[in-house]
Amino acid sequence: MKISGILVLSCLLSLTLFQITKSEPVVDTNNEQVMPGSTYYILPATTGNGGGLTLAKGANGSCPLNVYQAQNSQSVGLPLRFLMVNSSAGLVIDENEEVNIKFAAPRYDLICKKSTVWRIEGGLVTTGGIKGGSVSGTSTCLFTIQKYEDAYALQYCPRAKGCTFICPKLSCGYIGVSSVANGSKRLAVNRTAYKIVFKKA
Ligand SMILES: *[C@@H]1O[C@H](CO)[C@@H](O)[C@H](O)[C@H]1NC(C)=O
Ligand SMILES: *[C@@H]1O[C@H](CO)[C@@H](O)[C@H](O)[C@H]1NC(C)=O
Ligand SMILES: *[C@@H]1O[C@H](CO)[C@@H](O)[C@H](O)[C@H]1NC(C)=O
Ligand SMILES: *[C@@H]1O[C@H](CO)[C@@H](O)[C@H](O)[C@H]1NC(C)=O
Repeated sequence: MKISGILVLSCLLSLTLFQITKSEPVVDTNNEQVMPGSTYYILPATTGNGGGLTLAKGANGSCPLNVYQAQNSQSVGLPLRFLMVNSSAGLVIDENEEVNIKFAAPRYDLICKKSTVWRIEGGLVTTGGIKGGSVSGTSTCLFTIQKYEDAYALQYCPRAKGCTFICPKLSCGYIGVSSVANGSKRLAVNRTAYKIVFKKA
C-alpha cells in the first residue's frame, strides 16, 4: 500500500476513535461538569504529594513564565480555565476534546507581558501560547483531558502543521511532573501521567 493510503487510513481510524471516545463530560471534585466559563484548581489526585499549579520565571529570571506544581501540599496554586478550541463542540468540556489551558490570574499576565496560555517548548510546559489550535503554527498549545484510573490526566496532542484542511493529530504524550535541579517540580511532556482532579475555584 502506498504511504498516502496508509495516512488516509490512519486518519480515518483516528477520527473514528476520536468520535467513539469523545462523549463523556469531564467532571470536577463536586461531580459537576467542567465548563469553559468557570475556573478550576488542578490538584494532585493523591494528596500529600505537592499542591496545585503555579507560575514562575525561568532559571535566570527569564520570560515567559513556566508551569510548576507548588511544592507545598496545602497550596491550591493558581486558578485555571479551559478554553474550547472547537466552538461547535458543545457547552461543557469533554474527555479527549482539544482545549487550550490558561491561568485565570490576571496579575501574572503582566509579569512577562505575555499570555498565560500553556504552550510546549523543548518538552516542557511554559506559557505565552496562542488561543485556538486549528490554525497552522498554534498547535503547540493543544491539550486534552483524559480519564486516568479513578481521576484524570492531561495530554499534549499537537497537530501536524501547514495542512490545507484539518491537520491530523500527532502522537499525544502525557503531562507529568519533572523534578528540576533546585527541587522545584516543573510540568513536562512524555512523563508518567500526573494524576489530577479539578476543584472549582
Ligand atoms: C528553581 O528554578 C525555577 C526555574 O528555574 C525558578 O523559577 C525558581 O525560582 C528556582 N527556585 C529556587 C529556590 O532557586
Ligand atoms: C543563566 O545564566 C548563566 C550565566 O550567565 C548562563 O550560563 C546560563 O546558561 C543561563 N541559563 C539559562 C537557562 O538561560
Ligand atoms: C468540532 O465539533 C463538532 C461537533 O462535535 C465535530 O463534528 C467536529 O468534527 C469538530 N471539529 C474538529 C476540528 O474536531
Ligand atoms: C512524545 O513521545 C512521542 C512518541 O515517542 C513523540 O512522537 C513526541 O514527539 C514526543 N513529544 C514531545 C513533546 O517530546
